[in-house]
Amino acid sequence: MSPSRPLPSLPETTHTTTPLPTLASPPPLPPPTATTNITIIYNHFGCDIQILIVLQWAKNIKNPKRNSNPSSHFSYHISSHISGKMGFRNKLLVCTTIVSETRDEMVKSMEKAKEEGADLVELCIDSMSPFHLSEVEHLLKQRTLPAIVSFRLNSQKNSYKGDSKNKCLQVLRLAIELDVEFVEIDFELAFDVIDELMQKRENSKIIVSSHVKSGFRCKEKLGNLLVCLQSTGADIIKVVTEVAYITDVAPVFHVLTHSHVPVIVRAVGDRGLISQLLGPKYGAFMVYGSLGDKSIPGLPPLLSIKNVYKLDNVDIDTKVFGVVSNPVGHSKGPLLHNPAFRYCNYNGIYVPLLVDNIKEFLRVFSCTDFAGFSIGLPHKESAVACCDEVDSLAKSIGAVNTIVRRPTDGKLIGYNTDCDACITAIEDALRERQVSNGDVANVSPIAGRLFVLVGAGGAGRALAFGAKSKGARVVIFNRNFERAESLARAVSGEALPIEQLDAYCPENGMILANCSAIGMEPDVHLTPVSKENLRSYDLVFDAVYTPRNTRLLQEAVEVGVTVVSGVEMFIRQALGQFRLFTNGLAPEDFMRKVVLEQF
Ligand SMILES: NC(=O)c1ccc[n+]([C@@H]2O[C@H](COP(=O)([O-])OP(=O)(O)OC[C@H]3O[C@@H](n4cnc5c(N)ncnc54)[C@H](OP(=O)(O)O)[C@@H]3O)[C@@H](O)[C@H]2O)c1
Repeated sequence: MSPSRPLPSLPETTHTTTPLPTLASPPPLPPPTATTNITIIYNHFGCDIQILIVLQWAKNIKNPKRNSNPSSHFSYHISSHISGKMGFRNKLLVCTTIVSETRDEMVKSMEKAKEEGADLVELCIDSMSPFHLSEVEHLLKQRTLPAIVSFRLNSQKNSYKGDSKNKCLQVLRLAIELDVEFVEIDFELAFDVIDELMQKRENSKIIVSSHVKSGFRCKEKLGNLLVCLQSTGADIIKVVTEVAYITDVAPVFHVLTHSHVPVIVRAVGDRGLISQLLGPKYGAFMVYGSLGDKSIPGLPPLLSIKNVYKLDNVDIDTKVFGVVSNPVGHSKGPLLHNPAFRYCNYNGIYVPLLVDNIKEFLRVFSCTDFAGFSIGLPHKESAVACCDEVDSLAKSIGAVNTIVRRPTDGKLIGYNTDCDACITAIEDALRERQVSNGDVANVSPIAGRLFVLVGAGGAGRALAFGAKSKGARVVIFNRNFERAESLARAVSGEALPIEQLDAYCPENGMILANCSAIGMEPDVHLTPVSKENLRSYDLVFDAVYTPRNTRLLQEAVEVGVTVVSGVEMFIRQALGQFRLFTNGLAPEDFMRKVVLEQF
């Protein structure tokens, strides 16, 4: 397949798993000679099966005792793997990798992994400083969790340059002797040692693995590699691959869905995170997490696997939601939406989606299982053009912060819940004050007021259109003046240079709304208007919610001005999204409690 061919979109997961290839159906194999060409077509890996047969010949030629009936040998391997796979799929195993120079550190990390909910650990023996085999023996006998013993020949940590292969073989043999649960062999060593290990093992499962630097942009190439790994006769195959874009993870899901052997796949790097978080939906029997505070790109922390995502509950029917953003690490969405799904008994998972190109992302992950998205920086405006239909408010704002895939026809519908969230939060705060002053009016308390808006990005646009729709007058200050002017034109407002903001005071009773990133972490010392000049305002709203109590809000409170925080807006926009995601569910008290506890 040409590498330039576009990636097909991800298939739906269905209850009726794609039929396994019927092993009886291939045409009779010709006599085994090195030059034989075989063409067989079947509907999973397409041309890959052709490569599989060629590889099987190669293996059988290398192992003459297995040469007598290649066809039945192939069948035997496939069927034994399938039954193994079924056994594993009953429970999701959560693993963490332990890389340490000393045995003591490894033992300590193992204890910590256990506390954090790991089911097993991968002990990377190659990371230990030069050791005696007796030390490894001690470590393996001391293990407090089931283990994968691995010894990568070419890992960065490997200090055994010269006799690496021998050391590796010694370690693998020892692990088999000690009946360690899983023994992992590098693919390049597999043919040399797998028969011996298989014969000697009692209960150990053999994993054959490959670590790929360049990644796979198409499922066929990844399929080819898996077929090569499978041809070793391993119980389990494993691929660790780097990915450049989140869309490169789609082939991982394809192979998880269609593989006929238990397979572990990890897409490495920040953009590979969903390979672990969504792996269980596609049939992964094992996922990896990171230990403690040590952040490893592409791995969710062990504690979040157990407490936030609860991957044990993820299955083929789980609907996928997430926040499409770049960067995405700061998003609090997963901490809120995942517990809310569970609270409502809704089978959904909400994950961070580090997306570079939203159009490409939506094209590749186009199945109905990817049911809805929160849209964050910098995609809110470009998301409009990616939707099949856009709600009229979002259209006039020109920014979409929520996309829902309509279940009936799979069409993407764009909404903006930011607008309603910030406007109702401001209205409620003003009304509350009116009520305590004995002033009750039917019109919006925003009507007729002068809204001083800082920022003309996605949040700024939402607030400007919302304020305008409630009858406010809007004046916009933005770092990029042209952007301020363009927004001012759209809401029949006024744009002024940001340098004039601090001293701006044409009248009393104004509302100040910061919808810029000023004051957001890490620049928490910044504020758009000096404390003294905040006295000109009746209410101050800050969209920034990291930190929760910004300098702007603190100083506004200090001079006696009513404030509305970005957290309140966050809760309301998230509630709006949750209703759209779940077709109406809104556990408001619960979600409020989660936000206030966690943020
Ligand atoms: N509470 C909530 O639920 C909620 C929802 C959405 C957004 N927010 C917050 O609102 C803020 C803006 O988000 P957004 O979605 O509108 O982002 P956006 O579309 O990227 O717009 C960013 C805005 O901030 C301005 N800006 C960025 N850095 C600045 C700086 N150093 N000095 C002055 N202005 C600066 C930009 O000005 P230029 O045009 O000159 O670049 C632009 O107006 C963020 O802090 C975000 O976390 C909160």
